[in-house]
Amino acid sequence: MDPVTLVTARMVLSTPEAEDVELVAEYCTDPLFERFMATPWPYRVADAEYFLSKVVPVGWATGRELTWALRSAPVGPLLGVIGWRPRLGDIGYWLGAPHRGSGLMTEAVDAVTDWIFATQSVDTIGWECFVGNLASLGVARKAGFTFTGEGPSHVVARDGGHPISWHGVISRGDPHAPNPGWPA
Ligand SMILES: CC(C)(COP(=O)(O)OP(=O)(O)OC[C@H]1O[C@@H](n2cnc3c(N)ncnc32)[C@H](O)[C@@H]1OP(=O)(O)O)[C@@H](O)C(=O)NCCC(=O)NCCS
Repeated sequence: MDPVTLVTARMVLSTPEAEDVELVAEYCTDPLFERFMATPWPYRVADAEYFLSKVVPVGWATGRELTWALRSAPVGPLLGVIGWRPRLGDIGYWLGAPHRGSGLMTEAVDAVTDWIFATQSVDTIGWECFVGNLASLGVARKAGFTFTGEGPSHVVARDGGHPISWHGVISRGDPHAPNPGWPA
């Protein structure tokens, strides 16, 4: 599949590029990533290089993992990343620490889920986070996902396990508005 660019009110979502390597490496060393992400830890520049040179292009070429960089302008610096893995059915995301707190990821999730439902033959998109990741939960809730419960993660964690996670789903036609039923 050819990479797709999406435009939102405040951002351009485009392919992460080799030039993003320093910011990816910087942002992924955030201690929150050790706790809440399955990305390598400690995170090294080589991990960022592998992500940008292999994971991203192969993911698009095979259609197995579609990954976008969040930018505030077409050639602007990377703010964060959002991806969708059709086989798992889930979206995943992260923002660099300086760019949190202003709803950018919710805007990106809205755009990506709208694009998936408009162009792909799927009727649901999943979301999950390790239990306790209230910021990730907040994004999914605001984007209109419905909480479906607690259970082992689909994603394989660093230790090879499947930690207890919160799960949610958004279905074709659901509005981007919060639903009741989420953990407090
Ligand atoms: C998850 C992440 C992308 C969310 O982005 P963000 O900019 O922090 O999110 P926002 O500030 O837009 O917050 C979204 C909602 O969650 C709430 N929220 C954010 N952080 C929170 C926290 N620590 N505790 C409780 N609620 C929180 C916000 O209040 C907001 O809800 P509101 O508008 O009703 O008040 C970002 O925190 C991140 O990159 N975290 C590290 C990586 C990660 O955990 N990725 C997800 C893996 S599943």
